[in-house]
Amino acid sequence: MTSSASHAHHHGPGHHHEHGHGQAGTGEDDALAVVLDLDAEIFAPYLDAVTRRVADLAGDGVTHVVDLGSGTGTGTFALLERFPHARVTAVDSSPALLARLLDAARAQGRGDRVRTLETDAGAGLAGIADADLVWASASLHHMDDPAAALDGVRAALRPGGLVAVAELDGMPRFLPDDAVAGRPGLEARCREALDGLHAEQMPHMGADWGAMLAAAGLLVEDDRTERLELHAPLPAGVGRYAHVVLDRIRGALDGRADPADLAALGTLLDGGPADVRHRDDLVVRSTRRLWVARRPAETVKG
Ligand SMILES: C[S@@+](CC[C@H](N)C(=O)[O-])C[C@H]1O[C@@H](n2cnc3c(N)ncnc32)[C@H](O)[C@@H]1O
Repeated sequence: MTSSASHAHHHGPGHHHEHGHGQAGTGEDDALAVVLDLDAEIFAPYLDAVTRRVADLAGDGVTHVVDLGSGTGTGTFALLERFPHARVTAVDSSPALLARLLDAARAQGRGDRVRTLETDAGAGLAGIADADLVWASASLHHMDDPAAALDGVRAALRPGGLVAVAELDGMPRFLPDDAVAGRPGLEARCREALDGLHAEQMPHMGADWGAMLAAAGLLVEDDRTERLELHAPLPAGVGRYAHVVLDRIRGALDGRADPADLAALGTLLDGGPADVRHRDDLVVRSTRRLWVARRPAETVKG
């Protein structure tokens, strides 16, 4: 197998330039990349359990996997590991993230097993028709028209192939209620404001993906929710992860939240004694859900 990078350019309505995706080398892509990689590192046991569950349902003979909305490739690399005989097509609308993924694959000596496809997945998966597995982690909620995206997923799967949809309830939480003196409930209020913002920008966040999969003609075989909670001793990287997440939240809420809450958030980020990178009272909480659905085998008519 030779390494290749194909580029199908679509600039349909699914393009999310307003979220900063698709801009080569933007600071936004860099910040997103740090969040995605730290998340995969901190929740590695969960990712491992999820890909194992998917492999159990997929059975033998998985040779072509599609990572839809691949980001930095946390799913791609987990799936290359889980399916040692498979190649992965990483699909994303961001050329910068795809270039980074391919560099990482080559650095690991796995460049020959990874192909990239730059496209708006909301407009279908051009040229893919034989996938054994489509993996869509935290990506479908970005699509303008997820029903159209799922029609594209169905068309990309071979009959009997699987799609795994992994979604989460927004950014993880880290802080005790009294993290900043005089501002009880700070993180909960910030999260509420952020959820409101996300509902405006990404109306499909929190959609009923089981119903969406069924409506696309796929048979849902699994649906499981995990309430993940990490306590001390925490994995390395949690302080940095909390810092980058809360910094993004502060940026997103600038002008949209109580200035006193924004100032309190600042004290968690400024390198001082309350900074999240130095605290020993963080607890990481995140709720994650996985749906697995199968394209029905073709019925023979006659
Ligand atoms: C939250 S990230 C998730 C990345 C990765 N799947 C993971 O779980 O770490 C969402 C990804 O979807 C991509 N994306 C958003 N809208 C897209 C679209 N319409 N077509 C293809 N990719 C898209 C973004 O560029 C980003 O890389």
